[in-house]
Amino acid sequence: MSYDDIKYSRDSEILHIGGQVKGMDLKPESMPLFLTTAFTMNSLTEVMDTYANKGYTYVRTRNPNRQALAEAISYLENGEKSLIFSSGMGAITSTLMTLVQAGDHILCNSNIYGETFLVMTTLLPKFGVEVDLVNFESPEAVARAVKPNTKLLHTEVVSNPTLSMCDIKALADIAHAGKALLMVDNTFTTPIAVRPLDFGADIVMNSLTKFINGHSDAMGGSITATEKIIDTIMPISMLCGTPGDPFDSWLIYRSIQTLPLRLPKQMRTAAELAKALNENPLVEKVNHPALADYPQKELAARQFTDKGIVAMLSFIVPEKQDRIDSFLESLKFTSYAPTLGGIRTTLQHPVTSSHPHVPDDIRRSMGITPGMFRVSVGLEETADLIAAFNRALEVFK
Ligand SMILES: Cc1ncc(COP(=O)(O)O)c(C=O)c1O
Repeated sequence: MSYDDIKYSRDSEILHIGGQVKGMDLKPESMPLFLTTAFTMNSLTEVMDTYANKGYTYVRTRNPNRQALAEAISYLENGEKSLIFSSGMGAITSTLMTLVQAGDHILCNSNIYGETFLVMTTLLPKFGVEVDLVNFESPEAVARAVKPNTKLLHTEVVSNPTLSMCDIKALADIAHAGKALLMVDNTFTTPIAVRPLDFGADIVMNSLTKFINGHSDAMGGSITATEKIIDTIMPISMLCGTPGDPFDSWLIYRSIQTLPLRLPKQMRTAAELAKALNENPLVEKVNHPALADYPQKELAARQFTDKGIVAMLSFIVPEKQDRIDSFLESLKFTSYAPTLGGIRTTLQHPVTSSHPHVPDDIRRSMGITPGMFRVSVGLEETADLIAAFNRALEVFK
């Protein structure tokens, strides 16, 4: 009997993607960890067959845990094929080194993760690649900045820490009209909230270190694209030594099994916390797409799945450093941490952590002040988190 006519939910399907190890007779219920740097072979014939069939040889080339994770990410992102890297930055740098060369031009969103910004502005120019930074919230400004040698457009889905978003479909159309590729960093939003390839992006990147792993105990990155693109990035990743290691790949693959449960709850709580902070008169401003005055409501409705948009928010308190210290000390359930995407709520201070290199007047024009905090919302009960924030904010009375 065939059940192929039933359309199963993505949340059920993801539990069964990627666990089948090529060449293994045993059928373990969960994915084993292949902590080995190489696989042995018994004859020259086997050696030749293994290489010809892209079997498991040396860990930097292929590994079953990396493969399982790659299959799960391809499923989540609705893409043909994925590659797993040692970190999000490993994914970005290996991809850029593959796709552009001296004389090419890249257009990058001006509001971008700090280390991506440094790759674009300090590393790529060393290799003769020209990079222009443009505000991608305006597709018209992006279209105007495209040049005949533009090979790649790069952006994140929502910007850090102000949570404004860009229109992936409009950007893909601009890229393709100019024969360029669109690369989208989906780290903040994740494929639970948006699948950029469905809107025409050519390459989607994730820092797996964040929400996708979610447990703050592993580092990794992914790139998902067509088989053709992935097969050109793979040898460069091997040469640069950026593939992900088996243990972290195993941890992240395991964490994906609960991602469809974790993230919608985190995103719902972020929306509720944003609304509660917005109603608190001690808070000067809150940024989150769930708020009634969010300027890009129509785009948010069009671009995201029904699971949510983002489990991040930012808010601004009065610029009084001693009070801010008391606020942090008295805030229950939430620690300061220079990361995001864990199951425990954390917060970060953009002026000192992610944007210290940006001059104060420019930062303020971007909506970032010394009173701003960025929150990565975890799995705590929504009401507890709201109560804890409201209590700690009383230091500003
Ligand atoms: C949006 C974004 N992209 C890329 C990265 C880099 O990821 P990783 O730290 O895994 O290299 C980060 C890290 O914070 C990030 O926030």
